[in-house]
Amino acid sequence: MTARIIDGNALSAKIREHLAERATALKVSRGVTPCLAVILVGEDPASQVYVRNKVAGCEKAGFRSIKQVYPANVEPVTVLAKIAELNADPSVHGILVQLPLPKHFDSEAVLEAISPEKDVDGFHAENVGALMQGNPRFIPCTPYGVMKMLESEGVKIAGAEAVVVGRSNIVGKPMAMLLLAQSATVTICHSRSKDLAFHTRRADILVAAVGKERMITGDMIKPGATVIDVGMNRYASGPNAGKLCGDVDFETAKEVAGLITPVPGGVGPMTITMLLTNTMESAERTLK
Ligand code: GUN
Repeated sequence: MTARIIDGNALSAKIREHLAERATALKVSRGVTPCLAVILVGEDPASQVYVRNKVAGCEKAGFRSIKQVYPANVEPVTVLAKIAELNADPSVHGILVQLPLPKHFDSEAVLEAISPEKDVDGFHAENVGALMQGNPRFIPCTPYGVMKMLESEGVKIAGAEAVVVGRSNIVGKPMAMLLLAQSATVTICHSRSKDLAFHTRRADILVAAVGKERMITGDMIKPGATVIDVGMNRYASGPNAGKLCGDVDFETAKEVAGLITPVPGGVGPMTITMLLTNTMESAERTLK
């Protein structure tokens, strides 16, 4: 059996088209353009690519964007002052600080400085708490994108065994909360889990978010399962060295799974799509 592939590019394009229409409607009816402010500190190449793609995503959907870049040695107080300025600016609907921040930053304090009403990443403690209580304001973008993919494919979540590998604040934990909110039986695995394969083989829905090149292999997957690969790694060696790959070994996994996301072209494009969705929702909310 070969799994059906979930095309993140196609789903993203469809959602972004709809967002562009909503942006136009908002402009025409209320004179408001959705606006996202992105703060980048330092020169991390991966972060630079992510920020560039976020700004480009805004432009293409007809959103306004503000990009503020600081050198790695900037004083945290300068960044906090910028956040305060953006918090107070009614034309800004979303604020995002690209992570990771340099070591001399208290990342948590920076995330807490963003107004919860503009925290389109959904990382502020108030928004994390709201998600936990089942009443989310902003859902973190990557897990939100995964839920959209499951919805678009009609994957049954209620009663399903869902296994999330990875416990990060950005993906693993909110992912588990969202699956739980839709009545899956959720297991969270991590680096200290004993016998990972025992858990993954029970999963009807398996979400891999660990950041380890092709660590989930076909023999760890239940036949017919839905496999979502959040990993964004590079082959360390071999003929594909340097090329993108996920946390799932796609070649062996696709022979066992029922549905699977590729890397690239799976979850990746959905993350920015959901960031735009959160920014749009924030802009619409200010007008209610
Ligand atoms: N770094 C890696 N993923 C993310 C994300 O979703 N948001 C932010 N702000 N930084 C990140």
